[in-house]
Amino acid sequence: MFSMLRRRARPVVEDLRIEHAAECARLHADFFAHPWGVNEFETMIASAAVYGAAGVDPSRGDFGGFILVRRAADEAEILTIAVDKSLQKQGLGRELLDFQVSGLRRIGVRRLFLEVDENNRAARRLYEKSAFAQVGTRPGYYRSAEGSPANALILACEL
Ligand SMILES: CC(C)(COP(=O)(O)OP(=O)(O)OC[C@H]1O[C@@H](n2cnc3c(N)ncnc32)[C@H](O)[C@@H]1OP(=O)(O)O)[C@@H](O)C(=O)NCCC(=O)NCCS
Repeated sequence: MFSMLRRRARPVVEDLRIEHAAECARLHADFFAHPWGVNEFETMIASAAVYGAAGVDPSRGDFGGFILVRRAADEAEILTIAVDKSLQKQGLGRELLDFQVSGLRRIGVRRLFLEVDENNRAARRLYEKSAFAQVGTRPGYYRSAEGSPANALILACEL
């Protein structure tokens, strides 16, 4: 009863753990046409090459968002990032990205890549403000909900 009355607090960013896999899958399914399952998230989070961060409400435990990155030598790729709709545009996406970038720098990663749908304004804004620049394009890589093709932009950032 008491916990139901606790007010929502600003999420705190921490390392992603295997216990977060179900919440990652739930959030991923809210945004992506081909959602990854809980088992896939468990496997990725358990992988030594995969790093992640989660935004969690410290008082209620609500899961607000996450980022997942795969490393190969001194390069890494953002596999996915998502913030709960009710928490978007409040800075959590940037906090997750900054937290992860700091962690990657500490382990010697020098370049971070990602792919983003050219029509994804929110994500493009997030990355542009974090000094990512376009290094390539994959024409027609994505399909919209209506089935029309959209280009993937390949972005990179020197860490
Ligand atoms: C992309 C995403 C993670 C951003 O998370 P967020 O917590 O809303 O991001 P922030 O609040 O930190 O905002 C980062 C920047 O993007 C801008 N932004 C956020 N949502 C926006 C929107 N819908 N339209 C335009 N700009 C937007 C913010 O204003 C901010 O820019 P600013 O620093 O100039 O003010 C979130 O929109 C999301 O989960 N989208 C669905 C999943 C997705 O598309 N993931 C990316 C796949 S590549």
